[in-house]
Amino acid sequence: MAFPPRIAVASHNPHKLREIARICAGWPVEWVTVRDDPQRFPEVEETGDTYLENASLKARAVAAALDLPALADDSGIEVDALGGAPGPRSARYAGEHATDEQNLKQLLRALKGVPAGGRTARYRCVAVLATPDGDRIHAEAECEGALIGTPRGTAGFGYDPAFVPAGWDVTMAELSDEQKDRISHRGRALRALAELMERDP
Ligand code: IMP
Repeated sequence: MAFPPRIAVASHNPHKLREIARICAGWPVEWVTVRDDPQRFPEVEETGDTYLENASLKARAVAAALDLPALADDSGIEVDALGGAPGPRSARYAGEHATDEQNLKQLLRALKGVPAGGRTARYRCVAVLATPDGDRIHAEAECEGALIGTPRGTAGFGYDPAFVPAGWDVTMAELSDEQKDRISHRGRALRALAELMERDP
């Protein structure tokens, strides 16, 4: 699939919308977001068990509703000491309508007493581009790191204040936007998706 002329972004999350806009700023496309046309963007329930299923549900629902190719990202954090949880349930870890702060607190509570060496984790992102006629491409990427017990930093969102990316001694929430996008699961997945489209002009 080559770059389509217009893409709808299948997300209501303002943090994700901002990051996707930054990371994909060089794509040769016109963007449509929920801010342009709030009535027509469906709220999609994430009923899948995997990132790919959920990203596909979101992209396909928005592609059908707007009759436009749609881009979705499903992502989460996988904590080794918790057997890979919360994973695709990261947005709902502390409950169905939990805030980022509640989810972060819940995760830090779950890791209380786990020593520094056992706090490894990774962010994972699956990015999907789906067309109204049922075509789909996707790319997946991760960002390895570890969780600290006391959050630091105000940038980013979600679990960023407790996540120290591998090779850094600051949290994701202490990085600049440019630094986060360069190493993040989302940056890597979206650049891989762009490469698929560049190879298929
Ligand atoms: P989704 O909307 O189901 O993909 O939920 C993604 C959830 O994963 C977010 O609500 C955050 O809790 C977490 N998450 C994903 N990406 C990031 C990130 O870049 N930083 C911090 N948390 C993230």
